[in-house]
Amino acid sequence: MAQRSSSRVWLVTGCSSGFGSLLVPAIIARGDRVIATARRPSALAELDLHKNLTTMELDITSPQPVLDNIVRSIISKFGQIDVLVNNAGYVAPGVWEEISHEETTAQFNTNVFGALNLTRAVLPTMREQKSGTLVFMSSIAAWHGVGAGGPYSSSKFALEGAVECLEKETVHLGIETFLMVLGQFRTDILNAARKQNKKDNPIEDYERISEELRHRHQETSGKQPGDPELAVERILDVVRREGPLKNFPRLPLRIPLGSDAVQVMQAKCEETLGILKSLGDIARSTDYPDADDIPTYLR
Ligand SMILES: NC(=O)c1ccc[n+]([C@@H]2O[C@H](COP(=O)([O-])OP(=O)(O)OC[C@H]3O[C@@H](n4cnc5c(N)ncnc54)[C@H](OP(=O)(O)O)[C@@H]3O)[C@@H](O)[C@H]2O)c1
Repeated sequence: MAQRSSSRVWLVTGCSSGFGSLLVPAIIARGDRVIATARRPSALAELDLHKNLTTMELDITSPQPVLDNIVRSIISKFGQIDVLVNNAGYVAPGVWEEISHEETTAQFNTNVFGALNLTRAVLPTMREQKSGTLVFMSSIAAWHGVGAGGPYSSSKFALEGAVECLEKETVHLGIETFLMVLGQFRTDILNAARKQNKKDNPIEDYERISEELRHRHQETSGKQPGDPELAVERILDVVRREGPLKNFPRLPLRIPLGSDAVQVMQAKCEETLGILKSLGDIARSTDYPDADDIPTYLR
């Protein structure tokens, strides 16, 4: 097995476009090494060759033994994986009643189970190293659902729940975990989504809602407020504790990126506080008399 080196080794999924392809040169520019992966290796040919770049085919929906083997081959070559960026993902639009079980499962297989399974493959290495950083790409869609946005939103909600638990299971092992809660960033993500948002047998009752999201995607695609190159720099700052994050000894699990992320998260918190204010007494009215003696899960 290769010797461990002091420069970090990053494993990044979904490097054929968007955040993944931008992360690669940014990681190299800060002196780290990167294994850039994509399910279509030909798409990685556009990355500039560099001694600190290795490219590899990786479809995150592959079965667990395949993912385990890929990680094993990385470890035998590099001796370490310091940062895993679970970046690969896509937006499957569609209203609940129209979208099939298969389409929903495909969305979860990539956005949730792909990230879970690859992380499962990497965790033994990070436990052994007693160090490592896990980065997951979440979204404001995990904080605010919109009509016809269910498959994507539910996948990111699920991801956030799973990752929140993972962090509590692994923080004592020297493993840091971050959920990047991204607002809208100017990548091609909505282009691909637009192509999918056309059903063969649409239900008339939902046509307006589907059309609204289609229209929204059309209007926003290419004009999103967030600059992905700047977001990538912040992600590096978080992992490496550099730039504006240099003096943050302990960062939170959730890192909002984009002014719309701040807005959406704030609106959700305010809405939730409002619900607790108006319905808190009713909620508490269902307790047993000894409820105060029972420990809560809040930790
Ligand atoms: N851009 C935004 O506004 C935004 C906002 C919130 C969250 N995010 C999240 O950020 C991440 C990156 O998105 P992006 O904006 O950079 O979009 P993007 O340009 O469409 O990139 C998505 C990447 O994921 C890859 N991918 C999809 N399924 C895969 C699979 N099964 N195995 C391996 N790779 C796969 C795609 O590869 P192919 O080229 O082969 O399809 C592509 O490289 C996603 O998780 C997304 O949900 C983005």
